[in-house]
Amino acid sequence: MKIALVGATGLVGSVMRKVLEERGFQHAELIPAASEKSVGKKITFAGKELTIVSVADAIAAKPTFAIFSAGSSASLKYAPQFAKVGCTVIDNSSAWRNNEEIPLVVPEINIDSVKPEDHIIANPNCSTIQMVLALAPLHQKYTIRRVVVSTYQSVTGTGMKAVQQLLAERENKPCEKVYPYEIDLNVLPHGGNFEPNGYTSEEMKLLNETRKILSDKKINVTATVVRVPVIGGHSESVNVEFEHEYDMMELLELLQKMPGIKLLDNPDQNEYPMPRFAKDKDEVFVGRIRRDESQPKTLNMWIVADNLRKGAATNAIQIMEKLIEKRGL
Ligand code: A2P
Repeated sequence: MKIALVGATGLVGSVMRKVLEERGFQHAELIPAASEKSVGKKITFAGKELTIVSVADAIAAKPTFAIFSAGSSASLKYAPQFAKVGCTVIDNSSAWRNNEEIPLVVPEINIDSVKPEDHIIANPNCSTIQMVLALAPLHQKYTIRRVVVSTYQSVTGTGMKAVQQLLAERENKPCEKVYPYEIDLNVLPHGGNFEPNGYTSEEMKLLNETRKILSDKKINVTATVVRVPVIGGHSESVNVEFEHEYDMMELLELLQKMPGIKLLDNPDQNEYPMPRFAKDKDEVFVGRIRRDESQPKTLNMWIVADNLRKGAATNAIQIMEKLIEKRGL
């Protein structure tokens, strides 16, 4: 099977390679593509050295799948060109997520939204994936009315240059700044671009993508996205108000049974999810689960996941695995 990886030199691209190797795709023919400036560079995959090609050459190779992690403008431009040669694109950017024609998929929740004729599939935003995975079984049982979420997002979500900025600041070295302020020893209440309503694009993604994935336009989500000087993953404080009353034991069981979720909630032993321990793992960790005592039918929880794994690479590759199964490829 031929798989193109567009954005192969990037941070998510390098995790994509690792996850493909781990999940049994080491014998696939990988076609690594990036921007023109990287053509000819070498990368490794499954112990072999591969040469970066141009996006045009990757399209000409007519791969079965193309996994994109190269930003929105590259996706808007090239995804339809891959689709035209019969390739199925799984796109990690925000380019197609709000398009009604394009499925937005977390495989454990809504892989059935992909139709046989779909050739572009959107991978949700990292913060959305980890949150909806925990919300989905609870919404099904108790109907969610409103979610209040504050995120504590890793610099890895911004890309390679952001990690370099954090490390350079820590060592007092000069560097290219991708954030408007220092990120080390700081917290930026700013993820994405500010929109006319005062929210950022990252905050609006949490609302729009949650509604689309859970197929319920009535769910309300209000979000504050915060960038923190952390590398291992994104954390989220999530307050959920339900339509129906819940039983805590039953709710915990629903979370426990949800594929992809791992409960880590033993306050007596100081056990709770943290990005240091979520790093390089595929699970979404949920802890600090407690009743919101300030109003009925409401819950608080703390959700942590490696945003480069389940929040990006792993989710995209799981979508591909499901499609291989469904389409008999
Ligand atoms: P390149 O390394 O050649 O710039 P990150 O999110 O870590 O910054 O990575 C972004 C990835 O997307 C890189 O692999 C980058 O390649 C790739 N990329 C950016 N713009 C384009 C483009 N127009 N066409 C193809 N790949 C692109």
